[in-house]
Amino acid sequence: MKKIIIAIDGFSSCGKSTMAKDLAQEIGYIYIDTGAMYRAVTLYCLRNGWIGTDGTVNEDELRRHLDDIHITFRLNPDTQRPMTCLNGEVVEDAIRGLEVASHVSAVAAIGFVREMLVRQQQEMGREKGIVMDGRDIGTAVFPDAELKVFVTASASIRAQRRYDELQAKGQEASFEDILRNVEERDRIDQTRAVSPLRQADDALLLDNSHLTIAEQKAWLKEQYNKVVQC
Ligand code: DC
Repeated sequence: MKKIIIAIDGFSSCGKSTMAKDLAQEIGYIYIDTGAMYRAVTLYCLRNGWIGTDGTVNEDELRRHLDDIHITFRLNPDTQRPMTCLNGEVVEDAIRGLEVASHVSAVAAIGFVREMLVRQQQEMGREKGIVMDGRDIGTAVFPDAELKVFVTASASIRAQRRYDELQAKGQEASFEDILRNVEERDRIDQTRAVSPLRQADDALLLDNSHLTIAEQKAWLKEQYNKVVQC
């Protein structure tokens, strides 16, 4: 069976990673959550005090220390799911909280951060056999990916999903705060100067507002089968 690159882009909290992860596991591909990489850089900035109370990022300090940031993924032996590591430390929970979520769009809008992470992502896909999800995978990271999907869902449905996720983990959050955060991130992601979020011309559109996870997964598997069988 030929190996391909599967690029999954779309808005935040629309279930991209769940379906991408499951497909990768089922077909034996590597799965890379590129949002986790931007989140890990954001966590590094927060820990070093490089994000001011007004949300501005100290770009000079970040640029100076860029080589000190090493992001890797390690499989969780129990769940077989990848865990994000920042300089060897598992930060999977820390990068999913509201503090990182509130600042990640600003960090992801910095050109030199994107250049570094895009380079790493392209290296990860050199041998193909990879499912990568993010915002610019089909447009900037792998413009020649054999299968591109652009996922969307309404902002309130996405906020509800993120709220349920945090509740399940026992993390405090208000639905209104999350909704505001989702809408604000949409705005920043779509309007930033470098690689704004947009659907690639040759990407398939999936609006999953009213689809179950099982339905989305089946749809994605079908698209994958179509590409590898032809
Ligand atoms: O998918 P996510 O919510 O974990 O992404 C976190 C942030 O990173 C989001 O604001 C968009 C940004 N991002 C990006 O700009 N490019 C990517 N390839 C992935 C994420």
